[in-house]
This record gives sequence, C-alpha cells and structure tokens, in this order.
Amino acid sequence: MTYTQKELKESTHYGALGVNPGCKDCHIPQGFKNFHLAVYTHAVDGARELYLELVNDYSTLEKFNERRLIMAHDARMNLKKWDSITCRDCHKDPNPPGADAQEAHKKLKTEGATCIDCHQNLVHEEVAKTDLNASLAAGKMVLQQEEDGGEDEEGEDEDDEDASDGGEVEAQATGEDEDED
Ligand code: HEC
Ligand code: HEC
Ligand code: HEC
Repeated sequence: MTYTQKELKESTHYGALGVNPGCKDCHIPQGFKNFHLAVYTHAVDGARELYLELVNDYSTLEKFNERRLIMAHDARMNLKKWDSITCRDCHKDPNPPGADAQEAHKKLKTEGATCIDCHQNLVHEEVAKTDLNASLAAGKMVLQQEEDGGEDEEGEDEDDEDASDGGEVEAQATGEDEDED
C-alpha cells in the first residue's frame, strides 16, 4: 500500500456517490480510447513514465516526501496538457452553486483555464500550489503567488531537478500561452 493510496481513502473523492476512483481514473487519460496506441503515437508523451513513478512504492516516507512536490507538479502539468480530460470524464459539466465559483468557472471558457489550474491538492497531502501557465512559460516549476498580490515570492527554488525520469515539463505542451496581461 502506498502513501498516496492511504491519502486517497481519506479524501472526499473516496466513497462519494459510490464512486471509488482508482489511480488511473485521474492519472491516465481514458479519453484517449486506446491508451497503448496513444502512448505509441506519443499522444500522451511521458504519461506512462510518470504514472509508473507515481505508483512506485517508496521505501520511506522521507524519500517519498523529497520528491513529492516535483511529482505533484509533473502530475499537474500532465493534467494541464490534457486539459484535465480525466477530471472531465467524471465531472461533465461542473456547475457549482455560489457566485464566486461561477465567476471562476467562466474562466474555463474565457481564459482557457483548466480544472487543475485551480483545483490542486485534491486527494493527496497538500503541497505548495504551482502556477501552471507561468510554469509553461518559464519552462520550469513556478509556485503560485499569494492571492492578495504578494509580488516578491517567486518560487524558483526548484530547478528542473533531473530530467532523466520522464517527468518532462515541456514549454510547448499546450501550444498556446495565455499570460498576456
Ligand atoms: C481524483 C483524482 C486523483 C486520484 C483518484 C488519484 N490522484 Fe494522484 N494526483 C492527483 C492530482 C491532481 C495530483 C497533482 C497534485 C495535486 O495538486 O493534488 C496528483 C499527484 C500524485 C502524486 C504526486 C505526489 C503528491 O502527493 O502530489 C502521486 C505520487 C500520486 N498522485 C499517486 C496516486 C496514486 C498511487 C493514486 C491511487 C491510489 C492516485 N494518485 C489517485 C489526482 C488524483
Ligand atoms: C472517478 C470519477 C472522478 C474523477 C476522475 C474526478 N472526480 Fe472529482 N469528484 C468525484 C465525486 C464522486 C466527487 C464527490 C461528489 C461531488 O462533490 O460532486 C468529486 C468531488 C470533487 C470536488 C469537490 C470536493 C472536493 O474534494 O473539493 C472537486 C473540486 C473535484 N471533484 C474536482 C476534480 C478534479 C480537478 C479532478 C481531476 C484531477 C477530478 N475531480 C476527478 C468524482 C471524480
Ligand atoms: C479559474 C479557477 C477554476 C477553474 C478553472 C475550475 N474551477 Fe471548479 N471551482 C473553482 C472555485 C473558486 C470553486 C468554489 C470554491 C471551491 O469549492 O473550491 C469551484 C467549485 C467547484 C466544484 C464544487 C466544489 C464543492 O465543494 O462543491 C467542483 C465539483 C468543481 N469546481 C469542479 C471543477 C472542474 C471539474 C473543473 C474543470 C472542468 C473546474 N472546476 C475548473 C474554481 C475553478
């Protein structure tokens, strides 16, 4: 049993409405009907490698935690690249009550935002939130700024750690950059 399995069981995503999502429900895009074909044709570059790392059973929690933020960010960047297709498989048309949420969800259409831009730290233990558009633009992990405009906290402490393990963060991944303000 991995650490993440335990966390999943304690999250709101477990047991709700009789749905017990498995790791693949979020981490492997079933929307690409034939996953092996998709990998073969590089439609989901890096997905398999990252997935294997995600399900790796680290020997100690310390070792796992050392890599946690990097893996979390890689997983987010994959979701970003897929326009959160795995989330959308279950959440067809999320329409949360509340003005704030509705306002935020408009950005799905107007600013090309995707679920994982906003909904981070869903089922696993919390790690720092990362700014996915800024990360795409910078070609490396950029942490999210505080919401009330703290300008001076650029999180660039993690340099592209080791590129040898398939957790690529590619600047050209979505084909468009929307941070133009
Ligand atoms: C409901 C969707 C969902 C399910 C189900 C899910 N994950 Fe994740 N996982 C995520 C997201 C989103 C991230 C990116 C980090 C974040 O913001 O939560 C992530 C990140 C991770 C990470 C990186 C480290 C971390 O803690 O963020 C690992 C490892 C991981 N998942 C493994 C698993 C395993 C193993 C399972 C099955 C037991 C699983 N995940 C099930 C959504 C999911
Ligand atoms: C296997 C189906 C499934 C997948 C895949 C899935 N969800 Fe969910 N999600 C649910 C269910 C069921 C609930 C609980 C009922 C509800 O609140 O709608 C839920 C709850 C939520 C909530 C509200 C409760 C909370 O934990 O904050 C958010 C936000 C959410 N999901 C976002 C996401 C995102 C983002 C992804 C992709 C990383 C995702 N979901 C993937 C089924 C799924
Ligand atoms: C621009 C930011 C943003 C984007 C993009 C976004 N959301 Fe949300 N979402 C919010 C906010 C803010 C709320 C209300 C506060 C909360 O519950 O987190 C919310 C609420 C929700 C809820 C209800 C949560 C609850 O507790 O009942 C669900 C489910 C949800 N979003 C799913 C999604 C899914 C699926 C996507 C992608 C299709 C998505 N959201 C895209 C910001 C966003």
